[in-house]
Amino acid sequence: MRPVSTLVLLGLLKAVASQQISDIWQTTWDRKMLFTYFQPTPDPINFVSPGAIGSADIVVDDSSVYQTILGFGASLTDSSAQLFHNLKSQNSNNYWELLDYLFNITDAADSAGFSYIRVPLGASDFSANTYSYDDTSGDVNLNAFNIGAAPSYVFSTLSDILSINQGLRVHVVPWSPPGWMKSGTMDGGSLNTAYISVMANYLLKSLQGFQSKGIPIYAISIQNEPENSNPTYPTCSMPVSTEAQIGLKLRTLMNSNGFQNTKIIGYEHNWVDAANYPVQLMQQAGSAFDGVSFHCYQGSVSEQAEFTSQYPNKVWWMPSDYDFVDAPSSWALQVGAYVTGRVLSTDWERYSIVVLNWDDSASTTWNPQPVEATIEFRGMQASIPEATHLLLLDLVMFQATYTFPVGVTTLWWYAPAN
Ligand SMILES: *[C@@H]1O[C@H](CO)[C@@H](O)[C@H](O)[C@H]1NC(C)=O
Repeated sequence: MRPVSTLVLLGLLKAVASQQISDIWQTTWDRKMLFTYFQPTPDPINFVSPGAIGSADIVVDDSSVYQTILGFGASLTDSSAQLFHNLKSQNSNNYWELLDYLFNITDAADSAGFSYIRVPLGASDFSANTYSYDDTSGDVNLNAFNIGAAPSYVFSTLSDILSINQGLRVHVVPWSPPGWMKSGTMDGGSLNTAYISVMANYLLKSLQGFQSKGIPIYAISIQNEPENSNPTYPTCSMPVSTEAQIGLKLRTLMNSNGFQNTKIIGYEHNWVDAANYPVQLMQQAGSAFDGVSFHCYQGSVSEQAEFTSQYPNKVWWMPSDYDFVDAPSSWALQVGAYVTGRVLSTDWERYSIVVLNWDDSASTTWNPQPVEATIEFRGMQASIPEATHLLLLDLVMFQATYTFPVGVTTLWWYAPAN
């Protein structure tokens, strides 16, 4: 008898110690769920020996792991900071709840856990007024530089976010140099190259200004969208050679003023020109730049390879946009898979998948199509019973598919490091 009971015991232990899905977050097309947390049925979902696959089969293969993600986040423009500020004065409880919901990175905090924020230096297209930190024409020594030209709610909002997430990475970038360094306005045009050194100093003073407000800066870019000049809002076209020279001067200034750990990022523009501007920037000033960032308004993510094939270690920045998953568009599901370390190296790692089902069959009438998918991991399959009442009858009939409604679903499980 003894060996048998030992076997049973081992079997039980194994079931407890294997991967399980315990939490799901879902946003559905009908807005019945908006990033809503719920426990799965059954709770938890175990991974078991695989059966038949569903109409889609999601296979998470962690034998090859791709790029490291520094964090997720958003831009905090003047207008978004103003919205936060207005909420704080009207309903401070809601304000703090919202900040917690967005930025708390504590395990199990039920939060988006944002940890990367991009902040314009001076006015952007989302500002109440057009201003720079020094609007005194001809002030080449920047004696009139004043970080307080920015609305105070930018700094108070950032301080409040930092109080929730001390690991927040703040990335600053100007939409334009001060107008007097151009043809008189921040709206469109280009930098007068006589002011290249002045502009490098202006960026150093911007870093010092944020520091004086208690906001540490993780990275700075020279110019947002240097290939875009628009006379209706702060923009500036900046040729590669100008950005390269500013970058080299700024790196030197930062190194001798205590900002040697702050990164300098270049380009900040679309995939479509990946083979040209950022490549030339690396050729002319690679030592000054820690990397380049891409926007996705023009071109496709595959064009990024025209840069990364030459400078594989210089791109990990895609801070401004929304759809960097460039999966085949013919299929309903787009899936991202992630593994995150935890507090102790001995803790099991966290695996998660984010599944977008965008099959609305819109070529006919609005007709959202749920997709029944199996989920495979390390030769095991997530086992989702067809209906819970079958379990009560002790009929182990596993359909083993998870039904993904049109919307976004996130599932996760722990597993030992591979
Ligand atoms: C973050 O979330 C944790 C877990 O819910 C909570 O205990 C903590 O107070 C939150 N931290 C902040 C700064 O809100």
